[in-house]
Amino acid sequence: MSSRRTAPADITAAVIASFERSEDERLRTLARSLARHLHAFATEVGLTQREWEEGIRILTETGEITDDRRQEFVLWSDTLGLSMLVDALANPLPPVATESTVLGPFYVTGAPQRPHGASIAEEAAGTAAWVHGRVLGVGGEPIGGAELDVWQNGDDRLYAVQRAEGPEDHLRGRFTSRDDGSYAFLAVRPVPYTIPADGPVGTMLEATGRHPWRPAHIHMIVRASGYRTLTTHIFDRDSEYLDSDAVFAVKPSLLREFVLRAADDPERPASVDGEWFSVENTIVLAPV
Ligand code: BEZ
Ligand code: FE
Repeated sequence: MSSRRTAPADITAAVIASFERSEDERLRTLARSLARHLHAFATEVGLTQREWEEGIRILTETGEITDDRRQEFVLWSDTLGLSMLVDALANPLPPVATESTVLGPFYVTGAPQRPHGASIAEEAAGTAAWVHGRVLGVGGEPIGGAELDVWQNGDDRLYAVQRAEGPEDHLRGRFTSRDDGSYAFLAVRPVPYTIPADGPVGTMLEATGRHPWRPAHIHMIVRASGYRTLTTHIFDRDSEYLDSDAVFAVKPSLLREFVLRAADDPERPASVDGEWFSVENTIVLAPV
């Protein structure tokens, strides 16, 4: 019998070796690498038993707070920058294509189809913002028939899905680009808001001196046959928190100016009273 003592590295090696028999090559790669990096993390910081018990408590709490309307695991992924990293790794785009960014937890399928130029606000929600532009391919060709699925928050900071009352289609809608690629809809100027911070992710943000704010933005998924589906935002370039987005989703190429327009501006949309904003946003889709 050998008197050699078991070292921490022996434990790591045994776990990595245990996945050797996996017949699924990709699964083998994922499992071995995960074990290697997890063990390297614990080894590097000298993880104590008390700290790991606390880690398990946080994971348990994350499961307990997650339900159909609240996805705390996604929030971890978002606030650790993993959602953005996975997107960047999976979606390298040609340089001229519009950049993608995080989907977020407030997207709900089945938004109403609305006509060109219609308002997505079903009740008062802030100053009107006329969002318009064209959907183009990387060669500059107009893409007609593209679907723009848009959603945003209002001046109460909430998305429709977060509100206990009020119309469920408030501040969301689907639009179709015209033959020349043009699209337009009436939004409201979005406001910064906090991601849900009353759970374990919020505790982490507080404990590490971070904040839960996101800069003002409008969400968009653009789908067109023959092109890659784009999940992106229009960021208000004058918003607070552009330099410290809680989910690391700001990309400089997605910043847009909300231009203040006078009430008597001849281009004022018919349904708007008083001052309004306009935002030009050209979207360039990559081919499949
Ligand atoms: C959002 O923009 O809706 C969002 C994204 C990530 C986490 C929370 C909210
Ligand atoms: Fe959002």
